[in-house]
Amino acid sequence: MSGKLRMTALVAVFALALLPLAGTVTASAAGKPSVKLSKSQAGTGGSITVTGSGWRPKTLLMMLICGQSVPSRGVIGGTNSCANADGRAVTTDAKGDFSKELPVAEPPVPCPCVVHVATVTGEKAEADAIFMVAGHSVEPLPEEESGARLSVLTDTRLDGSGGLLTSFGAPPSRTLVFTVGNVGTAAVKDPVFQVGTSHGVFAPQWEEQQWRGTLAPGKRAQIELPVELAAGAHGDYTVSLKYGGKMLAEQPWGVGRPWGVTLFWILLGVVVPAAVFRVGMAAVDRLRPVMRAVTEELVAPIAQAGECEFMADFADRYPARILCELLGVPPQRQADFHRLPQEIGLIFSVSAAGHLNRIEAALATLHDAIDDLIEQRRATPGADLLTDLIAAEEAGDRLTPIELRTMTSALLFAGQDTTRQQFGLAMQTFLSYPDQWRMLAEDPAIAPRAVEEVMRVAPAVNTIWRMTDETIDFEGLTIPAGSFLNVLTNAAHTDPAAFGNARFDITATRSAGQLMFGGGIHYCLGALLARAEIAEALPILARRLPNPTAAGPAEPGPTLGLNGPVTLPIRFGPTLSTS
Ligand code: HEM
Repeated sequence: MSGKLRMTALVAVFALALLPLAGTVTASAAGKPSVKLSKSQAGTGGSITVTGSGWRPKTLLMMLICGQSVPSRGVIGGTNSCANADGRAVTTDAKGDFSKELPVAEPPVPCPCVVHVATVTGEKAEADAIFMVAGHSVEPLPEEESGARLSVLTDTRLDGSGGLLTSFGAPPSRTLVFTVGNVGTAAVKDPVFQVGTSHGVFAPQWEEQQWRGTLAPGKRAQIELPVELAAGAHGDYTVSLKYGGKMLAEQPWGVGRPWGVTLFWILLGVVVPAAVFRVGMAAVDRLRPVMRAVTEELVAPIAQAGECEFMADFADRYPARILCELLGVPPQRQADFHRLPQEIGLIFSVSAAGHLNRIEAALATLHDAIDDLIEQRRATPGADLLTDLIAAEEAGDRLTPIELRTMTSALLFAGQDTTRQQFGLAMQTFLSYPDQWRMLAEDPAIAPRAVEEVMRVAPAVNTIWRMTDETIDFEGLTIPAGSFLNVLTNAAHTDPAAFGNARFDITATRSAGQLMFGGGIHYCLGALLARAEIAEALPILARRLPNPTAAGPAEPGPTLGLNGPVTLPIRFGPTLSTS
């Protein structure tokens, strides 16, 4: 994605799985989520068993060891003070209970510590249990302020400047400098400030920062707090400062574009694509025989029956089978992975809010199924993508357990519903062009071009969503920062300036490409796979299901976003041949 644009449709699925942790629930309160530990003390390298009850059933939780915390004071510094990298994810059972081993890791700040458990999805809840990391340093908690009041006495300023590394994408950083005075009646010791960074119209991201020192009543001090943005960030930012929930100051920060990164990508774009394309193509090519075999297997009973409900009998099943092969899901478990991505796909419907419970239930069930599969693949590695992803997780520095699960569910989701809808749209299009269907049956070599043409006239994704980070001038049109854009692919694909008055023709070579797989760094990861899946299956379908006609009305899907028929009853003439 270009620096100006962000937010993809499919990232919404990641977002669903990564809602922020918040809200407090006392560990001991009756009927509320609680946490118990097998030992109250253990050393680094050891492990403890964490059990819990009273949580929402089938809910994903994250467990971490946090420093400078006791349940009565919450987690000071947020999860930044926790041993994040060594956390573990766990899913509660049908009764809302769980039990899981947690390796003992040292948090980045001294104890007193807690084991902090919080929901990752759904209604927010968290609970803590007191724990001591043996051998780790201990420091008293900062005193609670009473009667103390801090006020900013001078203008705030941001010191420092971006160096060469920042222009190559290193996180932009500055020091927020300000002078505060204690205008209250009691001393303030080690005050904790909240420093927020916000981009354009978006809400600030807050981070707690402690300043070491004591401010007696009437005294002042110059305070310096580090501020850092995400790597590659650029545009108009505001740095905000709060103390005790009260806003003390705001400071604008204009961050220049990291031109080094742009230069890097331009060079990379010239040198690497051919190599990456070859590697990706090789991986996809290995699956082509499987694609043909699965198509033949699914089409055999349909061809015999002379009619079918195309979505249920073919489109729903084929992409799921291929993805299961890619990920190494054993045949007896594949049914688990068919239905759930369709339920999760409701997130893209206009009425998504009304389906939230259903979507979250499907996501939780899918996560459970993935967890089981991961455990199985861990025990018995195979020559599949999931085994490779597990190896990256076990290496410890590339994928956390939660990222492994999220990545697997994102692939399962992103690669099924999209491709199945595209099959539905392809079949619907060919119903109106029997001559083209016949041509495809007779000449399978034109399949890759047929796929592009079908995607041009009937794209399964007819809108790509973007939010502008900054104001854009596009061909005389000024689009303000913070605008929500619907890039309509079907309008672009039939733009007379790019395609003339082109009729559907699977033999034509077009001068412009199609946009259905998005663009920029979020360009669809599975585009090669999807194209191959459809190109391998369509000629077989054309050969085995000749002269197709509608056998009843098709139930249409949503008109915006991921679209395509929900049901598509067809009948066809006698099969041409079976080989
Ligand atoms: C016809 C089938 C498909 C269509 C129409 C499609 C469409 C899209 C679109 C529109 C995006 C967002 C691009 C953007 O915002 O710039 C996307 C992203 C993505 N797709 Fe696909 N896709 C298809 C098949 C697949 C398959 C088979 C897989 C994987 C096996 C897959 C995996 C992904 C992933 C992981 C992303 C997120 C990429 C990122 O955000 O970096 N897709 N796809």
